[in-house]
Amino acid sequence: MGFPARRLRRLRQSEAIRGLVRENKLSAGNFILPLFAVPGSKIRREIASLPGNYHLSIDCLVEEAIAARDLGIPAVLLFGVPETKDEQASGAYAQHGIVQHAVRALKNTVPEILVITDVCPCEYTLNGHCGIICNGYLDNDASLDLITKITLSHAEAGSDMVAPASMLDGQIQAMRQVLDSHGYQNLPIMAYSAKFASKLYDPFFKEGTHSTLSFGDKRTHQMDFSNSDEAMREIALDIEEGADIVMVKPALFYLDVVYRAKQEFKMPLAVYDVSGEYAMIDAAARLGRLDRDAIMMEALTCMKRAGADIIITYFAKRAAELLHRNERSGDTHSGRDVLEEEWAI
Ligand code: PBG
Ligand code: ZN
Repeated sequence: MGFPARRLRRLRQSEAIRGLVRENKLSAGNFILPLFAVPGSKIRREIASLPGNYHLSIDCLVEEAIAARDLGIPAVLLFGVPETKDEQASGAYAQHGIVQHAVRALKNTVPEILVITDVCPCEYTLNGHCGIICNGYLDNDASLDLITKITLSHAEAGSDMVAPASMLDGQIQAMRQVLDSHGYQNLPIMAYSAKFASKLYDPFFKEGTHSTLSFGDKRTHQMDFSNSDEAMREIALDIEEGADIVMVKPALFYLDVVYRAKQEFKMPLAVYDVSGEYAMIDAAARLGRLDRDAIMMEALTCMKRAGADIIITYFAKRAAELLHRNERSGDTHSGRDVLEEEWAI
């Protein structure tokens, strides 16, 4: 049966009817908000390339986590920006390191929010690399030792979930072993399984964690962005090694990989909507070329449509706010016409 009997536009006539048949809806309950902890007190310094995101001393970090919780965001992903760095990345596993402190403070004051910790040495090494460098090459097995030390220190501080980010071979297995042998059998691992060597991380390094590489690049461990069969192999291995949640990162340019991952593995799947994706939308909005809120909602919804269950995004608070407001006004979808003054350019 074709036209004129079949008219697909019948179900698009009003927001009410569109809402009724909508296949994918965003929810604040699927967002994870990345947070950056810095030493000191009363520090709330905006990150230039990620407007609306801040370097937060622990007192302010706690306030931010409470704000996130009040918007229905269940989890934060913690990064530390330490005062000093060294070759061994000792700050990454120090008992009184910045992240370990932040985890304790969050669990003491806002226990209901999930605290996920990023497990990667690169914020703590002098050269910005994700492990131990031997003769200019990232040494896999020497770096695994470091990863397990960081993992254990996060667990001991009270982390609710660990998220290994360095794309080393065998790291999920190594982490699972160290966690299980120390009584942390119930601590989940969210693996950055298919993490591509992308220039979209630049804002994160430059202004987010001050961990720009002093030499080389990350292409010997992060994935070549030309490949997606290989991404499936990475994800399969992480699942075999014990990952509870798998991830594709970045998100927007990689939605084909997200789609494949969901279809092939049917595992809880996260995407990381990275700093460069945020910066692109922010810059275009500032130039008046794109409508910030509308583009944000479109981008996040398309990640979900591709198969993401969980979205790690610097937009989490703003998107959650819009979802709540739109819910009240009956329009649960668009980012339009709502509170434009708050994010005025
Ligand atoms: C690893 C890590 C990185 C990002 C998150 N965790 C960078 C990397 O290791 O290459 C990038 C996130 C972003 O760009 O928003 N510590
Ligand atoms: Zn790293």
